[in-house]
Amino acid sequence: MSPKPHSFDFDKEIDRTTTASDKWDKYKGQNILPMWVADSDFQSPPAVIDALQTRIAHGVLGYTHAPDNLTDLFVARMASRYGWHIEPEWVVYLPGLVCGLNIAARALCDEGQTIVSPSPVYPPFISSAKFAERRLVKAPVKLDQGRWMPDLDEAEKQLDGKGGLLQMCNPLNPGGTVYRKEELEATLAFAEKHDLLVCSDEIHCDLILDEALTHIPFASINERAAQRSVTLMAPSKTFNIAGLGASIAIIPNPKIRQRFIKVKRGIVPGVSLLAFTAAEAAYEHGQDWLDAQLDYLRGHRDYLMQEINALPGLKLEKIEATYLAWIDCSGLPVDNPHRFFEQAGVGLSPGIDFGNRQFVRLNFGCTRKTLEEAVARMKAAVLLL
Ligand SMILES: Cc1ncc(COP(=O)(O)O)c(C=O)c1O
Repeated sequence: MSPKPHSFDFDKEIDRTTTASDKWDKYKGQNILPMWVADSDFQSPPAVIDALQTRIAHGVLGYTHAPDNLTDLFVARMASRYGWHIEPEWVVYLPGLVCGLNIAARALCDEGQTIVSPSPVYPPFISSAKFAERRLVKAPVKLDQGRWMPDLDEAEKQLDGKGGLLQMCNPLNPGGTVYRKEELEATLAFAEKHDLLVCSDEIHCDLILDEALTHIPFASINERAAQRSVTLMAPSKTFNIAGLGASIAIIPNPKIRQRFIKVKRGIVPGVSLLAFTAAEAAYEHGQDWLDAQLDYLRGHRDYLMQEINALPGLKLEKIEATYLAWIDCSGLPVDNPHRFFEQAGVGLSPGIDFGNRQFVRLNFGCTRKTLEEAVARMKAAVLLL
């Protein structure tokens, strides 16, 4: 039975400064609002907190494995949200999604082959190729009718016919693009043409802000896509449980799955029992909370679009998904926009970390009060230039 509907208060201010929070400790003791690393300042759904408390109260915290109910919930979730019928044995649990990117880089791209990655992109995409010592080709992300899209034609010029791995980030971080069906089909055609397996990071798939859009998993478009892909998903961004660490790789092709598991074996630890507990409760009982969170974030996105685009020198394209705003500062007469805003009391992610120094990324997974204060500081600094 589902729990009673709650009302959720995303405006509630919660002090994170005593919780060894990456986000808040970076600027500890300084008057700089942390708007960088991608977790939110919201409490997780009450059902998640209740489930964790119940599990802790049990008191015996021994070795564990994925609860059958979690896999059933996940299989049902793929079918109901995406019409994607997956089998429980395709699911490989991971203690984080970044390790999935790194396993895929090592397992699915042989020496001498190439990894193709969008750029700018979430930094572990690029570092996974470096760590695996694989050749990297960047597909430059360009603005196409107001949307950030990787230019595969540009990447194609550097491919050598030896095959390898194509990394996708859908929705795209940074940039927030939600891939359309035709774009996924074109990506599949590209992967087939160049003999590339596909690793699709879909960690932000539940955070679709544009109500006219739905997420489409790459592997769900057809059997050919499924058979050459690893899809990475997680409840971590969706329900703000990134500190627990539970991610899911979906690998339909048994040979690819075996290669993936072989690289992971003995090195990557299992998922912790509290992460499993939280993931299960979130997928089972978290939908009302998620709907409310999306409403709240849509309000933030609209506010931010209006405020940022009203400032001289700044440009923010429509954010289709994620709570991360990719702000073009190339019109500002400053050398280092990240440092400029930090000195103004706003701690953003430097664009250079993703691949473009002229940008900053603003995490709006925070209360309206924090967001308004950050915007006021940015505005004051820009208008003084
Ligand atoms: C695209 C993308 N992949 C992966 C992650 C992080 O995954 P994890 O913390 O589960 O390793 C993030 C976090 O910001 C992300 O944006």
